[in-house]
Order: sequence, then structure tokens, then C-alpha cells
Amino acid sequence: MQKVSTSFIILAAGIGSRMKSSKPKVLHEIANTSIINYLLKKIFNLKAKLNINNIIVVLGHENQLVKKNIKLYFPDVVFAIQKNQLGTADAVYSARDIIGKKTDKIIVLCGDAPLVSSNLLIKLTKESISSDIGVVGFRTKNPSGYGRIVKDKYNNIDKIIEHKDTNSSDKKINFCNSGILICRTNFLMHFVKTVSFNKNKKEKYLTDIVKIGKNKNKKIILIEASENECIGINDREDLAMVERELQENLRKKAMKKGVTLIAPETVFFSYDTVIAKDVIIGPNVVFGPKVKIETGVVIEAFSHLEGVTIKKGAKIGPFARIRPGVVVEEDVKIGNFVEVKKSRIKKGAKINHLSYVGDSNVGKKSNIGAGVITCNYDGKNKNKTIVEDNAFIGSNVSLVAPVKVGKNSKIGAGSVITKNVLHDSLAVERNKQINIKKKSRKT
Ligand code: UD1
Ligand code: CA
Repeated sequence: MQKVSTSFIILAAGIGSRMKSSKPKVLHEIANTSIINYLLKKIFNLKAKLNINNIIVVLGHENQLVKKNIKLYFPDVVFAIQKNQLGTADAVYSARDIIGKKTDKIIVLCGDAPLVSSNLLIKLTKESISSDIGVVGFRTKNPSGYGRIVKDKYNNIDKIIEHKDTNSSDKKINFCNSGILICRTNFLMHFVKTVSFNKNKKEKYLTDIVKIGKNKNKKIILIEASENECIGINDREDLAMVERELQENLRKKAMKKGVTLIAPETVFFSYDTVIAKDVIIGPNVVFGPKVKIETGVVIEAFSHLEGVTIKKGAKIGPFARIRPGVVVEEDVKIGNFVEVKKSRIKKGAKINHLSYVGDSNVGKKSNIGAGVITCNYDGKNKNKTIVEDNAFIGSNVSLVAPVKVGKNSKIGAGSVITKNVLHDSLAVERNKQINIKKKSRKT
């Protein structure tokens, strides 16, 4: 394929009023990342396949919050500022000074339609190579809200009518504009500034570029995509729809890689969850961001994991909560109603029931009994608990940090441990039991 140079313009300056939110629309989250960053990740990955020049995001005047969020993950993104939100044509035009002359083609995407696939963008680039404009359309049973694609008598695209401007017969058209557009740079940048204000919406529509192209006898192609990858997020219902679609994709991807999902529709992944083959995941398991799971791991029902690496053969749950900063080593067992935070649980250790383990190291093959609590917070600071290898901590022990339990040691049930325990010893801290005989009742 001839390597045309392409730049992306991603439109994200809109107010997003239909979201009814104080947060900018593109910062709402899908699969635990912002809508805009989900889209950007995909485009940056395309750099290996397409000759990408610039990736430009158009933001509203002083939209520092969005900028900051993007910069954190994608420092190479270039920003264009659209001072007033005068419509999608004006948004594209606001990138004119950044585009530069090196770019043959521009792909315009809507920041609120994150599910577009890499395959579609590659196909669009290939198929439009000798055209001036390429439009991506999709069929849907529910076209309400989308621009409708009107064809001429030769079945070529004629124009796009925005939803607000449709009459009752246009409304029945179920072939819609996805908002994904590819254009020759000089054509787009020259003519986008000639788009005039729409009477109904007082905006300059980018979609008018099709009519302009047609009048100038430009070559326009139409590519059909599946509805699933064209959903635009305008309100909370759309947000939920995209989340559903995305989760569906993530589940399929996991199963394709050899992961067993016992009840796939109840498992929720993050955009960055990494799971090796031969992992078994029970029903109602939720993965927050930054989870990595090695082969042979079993995660039982109702477990919640975030920011954790779980190594080969470990067993988690049911009902376990693993919070950020945890490494669970090989063959560890973490059972029901156990919460672990910022800790390393070494090979073969067991924490089977009802425990809180935070800011800790648990040594190899150690056993943490039922109800053990690491008291890591003294009201001001978080303190560390170190349990060395082969230790046995009895039920209901409180380990008041900072504290260290030496290897091969045992702690008697119910003890409140405030001092270090030497290796190979037994520590017991509790009052002696007294048995008092009942008084015999007088008759
Ligand atoms: C737009 C398309 C419509 C298409 C739909 C697909 C236009 C005129 N309409 O409609 O044909 O079916 O997307 O989802 O293009 N934006 C700016 N600056 C502005 C206005 C909008 O940057 O002045 C951005 C928004 O942040 C958003 C994108 O452009 O990310 C689309 O704008 P939106 O208002 O959501 O357009 P739709 O009505 O969905
Ligand atoms: Ca939209």
C-alpha cells in the first residue's frame, strides 16, 4: 500500500449538554478509562500500520481538565482550541494551523464515538486512497439523533441531513453518518471554512462538506461499518450502551485467548486487564484497572481486583477484594471476605478467611488464620507488617504495625501483637482464662 501521510483530528470541544454533567463528556469513563483516552490508545497503536503525522484533539476554550488527563497518558497529542462551539465544521477549521503541509489525508473522528476499530480505519485509508472524501455510514434500527445519509439515483452518497433538519420521510432513513470521515487535506481545509451556519441549530455542520464536494465534482466514497463501532455517546444511556458493547468485546477477547468465563455476561474487565490462558473466572468478578493475571489462576465468584499482579496457580475468592499495590505470588490462596492492599503475598502463603492485610509482606508458606487484622494505620501514618516465611498466625490476631513476625513462628489465637516476634518462637498475648463455678441455686 502506498504510504499516504495521515493526520487525525478528534473533535472533543462540544459542551456535551445531553450528559447533564459538570464533567466534560469525553472524561466520562468506559472500562475504567476516559472515553477520549480509550480512543487515543487505539489511534496511537495504529502508528505501526499507518503513516500518521499528527494526532490532534480539538478542545473547547481553556478545557484544561481534558488536556491534563490526555497529557498524562499521551504527551504527543497536539491540541487545537476552538474558542466558541460553533459546530463540527468550525471545530475542524480550528486545527488549520497545526495540520501543516506534510499531511495528505485527514481522518476526522468524534471524541464521543470511541468504539471505532483499527480495522475500519485501515480499510477507510486504503479504500479512499484515490478519493477526495470518504464517509463511514452504518445501519441502525434506532437512527434517532444521527445524521442521515441520503443517496442519489446512482446509489452514491448525495448529502447528509442532520437529525434536527429531517422531515418525516427523512426520519425513516436508517443509514446514518458515523461521524468518521477521511478527506484530502487541501480540499478539507480549503472548503470547511466555507460551510455556513445551519438555520435550525445555529452551527456549522462538518457534514455539509459532502454537499460541497458533490457540487465540485469531487470523488466521494461511502464505506459501511457495523453499528456497534459507530455508537456516539450523547447521554447516559449511550454511555451505558457503549460500556455494554465494550465489555462484550473484552469478554470475547479473553475467551479467545483461552480464559474460561463461567458466566461471561457477569464479568467486568478494564481496558487494560491482562489475563493469560487457562485462567478460570467465576461469576460476578470485577476487574478494576491495572490487573495482570498469570496462567492457571482461579478467581472465584464475587471477587473484586484492582492494581494487582497474580502469579501462576494462585486461587482467589470467592468474595475477595484485592486493592492496588498487591503482588500475589505462585500458588497463594486468598479466600472469602479477605481484603488485601499494598502487600506482597509470597509463594504458597494462605489467607483463607475474613482478614484484612494491608502494607504487609507475608512470607512463603505462611498461614494467616481466620479474622487476622493488620492494624496498619495509627491515625496518622501507614505502617508495615512483615511476616516472614513459614509463620503461623492464629485466628483473630491483631498485628499492630510496625511489627515483624520472624520465620517459623506461631502466634496464639486472639493475641494483640505490638512487639516483634522472634523467629522459631511462640507468642501469646492474652489473659489467662478463669472458670468460675456457678453458684448453686437455693430452693
Ligand atoms: C454528529 C454528526 C452526525 C453523526 C453523529 C455521529 C455533525 C454536524 N453531525 O452529530 O451526522 O451522525 O455525530 O455520532 O457533525 N464538537 C466540537 N465542537 C463543536 C461541536 C461539536 O468539537 O462546536 C465535537 C463534540 O465534542 C463531539 C463531536 O464534535 O465529540 C460531535 O458533536 P455532537 O454535538 O455530539 O454531534 P452529533 O449531534 O452527535
Ligand atoms: Ca455525538
